[in-house]
Amino acid sequence: MTSREVFIDAALRAIDESRASLDPDYPRFHVAPPAGRLNDPNGLIVIDGVYHVFYQFGPFFPHDKAICWGHATSSDLVHWTTHPPAIPPSDWYDRNGVYSGGAVAHDGKVWLHYTGNVKDAEGRRESYQCAVTTTDFESFPKLKANPLIPGPPAGYTAHLRDPFVAPDGDGFAMYLGGQRADNTGCILVYRSSDLVDWQLDGELTFPDDRYADYGYMWECPNVFRLPDADTGEEFDVLIFCPQGIDPRGDEFRNIFPCGYLVGHLEGSLFTPSGEFTELDGGFEFYAPQVFTAGAGEPEQPPLLMGWLGNASEDDQPSLAEHGWVHVQSVPRDLTLRGGRLHQLPRRIAGEPAGLAIAGTELAGPAQPLPELDGVRSFILDLVVDQREEWSLWLGRPDGAHVTLAFERGVLTVDRSATRYRHGDLRRLAVPDLDRLEVTVVHDRSVTEVFVAGGHTAFSLRSYLDPEEFQVAIAGDAGVAAAAATILE
Ligand code: FRU
Repeated sequence: MTSREVFIDAALRAIDESRASLDPDYPRFHVAPPAGRLNDPNGLIVIDGVYHVFYQFGPFFPHDKAICWGHATSSDLVHWTTHPPAIPPSDWYDRNGVYSGGAVAHDGKVWLHYTGNVKDAEGRRESYQCAVTTTDFESFPKLKANPLIPGPPAGYTAHLRDPFVAPDGDGFAMYLGGQRADNTGCILVYRSSDLVDWQLDGELTFPDDRYADYGYMWECPNVFRLPDADTGEEFDVLIFCPQGIDPRGDEFRNIFPCGYLVGHLEGSLFTPSGEFTELDGGFEFYAPQVFTAGAGEPEQPPLLMGWLGNASEDDQPSLAEHGWVHVQSVPRDLTLRGGRLHQLPRRIAGEPAGLAIAGTELAGPAQPLPELDGVRSFILDLVVDQREEWSLWLGRPDGAHVTLAFERGVLTVDRSATRYRHGDLRRLAVPDLDRLEVTVVHDRSVTEVFVAGGHTAFSLRSYLDPEEFQVAIAGDAGVAAAAATILE
């Protein structure tokens, strides 16, 4: 057997023997690893109406940290099918990890560019930019020309990874997360006419030095264009994950932060029209990507998926008890309003059904929503007339629970009474509105909260008591509308 076959065979055995799907915390409609560990989404692409999600996958974790690209597909973004690993770490240039990268459709093929991670005999890092192509999503031959970029250019360290490839003029641009020799983070831009032969164009630059010394390394760049929903004016969005920046008030509190700039990209000059903004203020969110589309796919808004996890925070109940850890977020439709990205879960599955709490006034103690008693996978949509504080409880007030407490202009998420209390509680500024729209996506041990039409997003892992689950609402407010889509 080739080393590719040996790896894939062993991964399939690990998947076969996995206890992950027996776990009452294993999600129903979020992409999760069939065994072991998952991190960044990779190569997100929709082809012939099928959504392909590749992801950083460690099938043997925690015993062996080898990383390949896992692969899952769905045509409704709710039911996901697991496929064999697509890219194993089986060549000299990727033997210590097939790291993150992106997808692009060209010439009747899907091209997946990725970073080959190598540790030399002394444990020093080497990084190689590589590619595979596929026409059937079953075989993913590595290019004979690999590695396409055989290391960092002068002036940059081997922390060069996560190629994001996008059409650019008559050819393609590759944006790479990088680090200058002086240990500051940046993005390098390469250009190509054929996706194989890449020429360094230089750094992605900004009109001033605001981002010249902004963290020590940048990971996972993404670039895409979308119009402002109110004015129709087109903007470019640049997402990246600058490691080592300081928190800003309640923002950027995770071990590694992740955010975006809105502006205009001309050549390699990005002129931002606002500040670097956090994408999701939750305890777990990192390394997001936007889906790209094959030729002939219907136009759709940019659709984002992020990793609901953080580097080195693997110590979750699911790993000890059922041998798996981390999930991807739900796919989120992005709209741009007033320079800010708004995120809402893509609506494809199920019709929302009204809840009896709709049209009632809340006063004081928690009122359970009887329709969601024992239902652990759902999307809940609320429209609330806010007076003072009100809160939503996931789980039993007298047992394991998460609270989402809304004061005017502030959301406090408290998971200190759960089985994974890491970070305990966190506050986040939200718009102070008389009428607030809140969407809660909850899927067994995953919770994603979208406030004010998606203006603010907050994601967390919420390990509750699978036997004792209810949703309740409390406080001083009026429930103008309430509906739930059950996804069990
Ligand atoms: C981000 C990241 C990427 C890298 C990958 C390795 O979480 O560190 O920069 O390609 O994960 O798994």
